[in-house]
Amino acid sequence: MKKLSARRRHPLAAVVVLLFALAATGGLYAAFAPAGKAQADETAQSLAIEEGKKLYAVGCASCHGTGGQGTTDGPSLVGVGSAAVDFQVGTGRMPAQQPGAQVPKKKVIYTQAQIDQLAAYVASLGAGPITPTESQTDPSNADVGKGGELFRTNCAQCHNFTGEGGALTHGKFAPSLEGVSPKHIYEAMQTGPQNMPSFPDSTMPEKEKKDIIAYVKAVNGEETPSPGGFGLGGLGPVSEGLFAWIFGLGALIAVAVWVAAHTAKAKKS
Ligand code: HEC
Ligand code: HEC
Repeated sequence: MKKLSARRRHPLAAVVVLLFALAATGGLYAAFAPAGKAQADETAQSLAIEEGKKLYAVGCASCHGTGGQGTTDGPSLVGVGSAAVDFQVGTGRMPAQQPGAQVPKKKVIYTQAQIDQLAAYVASLGAGPITPTESQTDPSNADVGKGGELFRTNCAQCHNFTGEGGALTHGKFAPSLEGVSPKHIYEAMQTGPQNMPSFPDSTMPEKEKKDIIAYVKAVNGEETPSPGGFGLGGLGPVSEGLFAWIFGLGALIAVAVWVAAHTAKAKKS
């Protein structure tokens, strides 16, 4: 009895209780947090749509109609998706100012936060291509060579072999791709602005879009992402294979020698 009560007042008892309490709180938090977060996301989303609707009424409705149904001055936006808005407004094409053969790029007048709100509102009108995430458009591990091939078959007839652009008929033109952000290149392919055909993910998967982005960046000398894996001086797959071969083989030999040495020792003793 005496022993037990002594243990009860053990100086570490308080610490143990505290640890238990912490673990319990952590468990409770883990159990309830996801639901709370999902709800918060939903609220944030409907807030963004509300804000976007207001911005739209002021800046876009005169041409695209109050519910995005379109007017004689602008096409319907039902189903164009958040990616189209992010591209058109993010490159300064929208809001358009005057009618012409092709709406030119201008200074971007909305902040990215406002563009996201406009995009959320337009996306709520009808499902369409979704604005890509940063990891979807990051070309740093893409295959530049494959990208060049894809570019020559799909894009070069309008944008020229190195993406410097070119004239089309009726005063329209394919713009130079120099300095265009990876996100906007991705979105142009998803949505096919104006005379450009669209290349949805179903016919041109994310991986191929990344390869094309890497090629466009490489020919413009903007950045030269290494073609998969380590840089290794950019000598291509042969040097990389050789690297793996030599080091892999070296490691195997080292292991074999070690095993042999140890079994020999074991036999002796
Ligand atoms: C002065 C009229 C005008 C205004 C204002 C305007 N647009 Fe447009 N918008 C157009 C026209 C015309 C086109 C077609 C452009 C083209 O094909 O080159 C277009 C095209 C678009 C497209 C591409 C649709 C598609 O099929 O891919 C989007 C998205 C868009 N507008 C969004 C907006 C948003 C968002 C705003 C407000 C910030 C806005 N526009 C303001 C006239 C306008
Ligand atoms: C039939 C001709 C044509 C083809 C093929 C084509 N484009 Fe385009 N592209 C255009 C036109 C025209 C525009 C300008 C649209 C506008 O201003 O609304 C454009 C715009 C773009 C833009 C926006 C550039 C900027 O300044 O914001 C990008 C990026 C782009 N194209 C990439 C591509 C890629 C990548 C491919 C191949 C997968 C491709 N295009 C295939 C005609 C074409």
